[in-house]
Amino acid sequence: MLLVSESLHSKNLALFKISPKLPTYERLEGYREKFTCISDEDFFSGMHWNHKIKIYIKGDTKAYVINHIQYLLRYLSDDLDEDLEETVYDVIGEKFSYTPGTIIIKENYLEKEELLTPLFLTVMIKHKAGYAPDSGDWEYLKISKDGFLILGGKATNEAVKKDCFECHANLKSQDFTFASSFGRVNASNHLEKLIKSLHRVKN
Ligand code: HEC
Repeated sequence: MLLVSESLHSKNLALFKISPKLPTYERLEGYREKFTCISDEDFFSGMHWNHKIKIYIKGDTKAYVINHIQYLLRYLSDDLDEDLEETVYDVIGEKFSYTPGTIIIKENYLEKEELLTPLFLTVMIKHKAGYAPDSGDWEYLKISKDGFLILGGKATNEAVKKDCFECHANLKSQDFTFASSFGRVNASNHLEKLIKSLHRVKN
């Protein structure tokens, strides 16, 4: 797939396991081969407990790119040239949501003296309309590095509400995803390139 970065993908970081006992095992196992690694090589999460993260996606990659453009626009809108702004909205439209079946996995690592230790996975699975109508029909999962469920479910689940949805709820206009890291073009002054890459993205 177009968005896969070879160097990122082949880099053998310590691996997370997915236990066959996990109810979502079949959807998640082998994600490193089956999903697209979409984040920057060295992305450090300010909000997600200050961890080093890598993001993998399967399904609606295009929606993630649109999300990322929205993310950039939040920071750029003051000095964005008007024509470009118009082009952006022509491309991304006013409103969108991810296609059901899309899965986004975030690996969370602790970095110490250039060593990355796997901590846990955070996962969002997009379900069909009606699964969780007030929270974008997303299922949230937190999975230990050995592949066991720490918490999971809809945003109405108490643990999910407290540990996940408190933050993601703020992103309603972006279908509850941040998309702050995108490996192909990571500098904000590359918005034009990003828009071009959106035209090329295959789902
Ligand atoms: C403190 C706020 C916060 C909490 C709590 C939180 N997230 Fe996030 N999440 C973020 C931010 C910010 C990002 C964007 C990447 C980054 O900076 O880490 C993100 C990114 C993600 C992503 C990648 C897709 C995207 O939105 O960019 C997934 C998947 C995810 N989070 C799942 C979860 C799950 C599951 C939980 C609960 C276990 C959770 N998050 C809890 C703030 C939070």
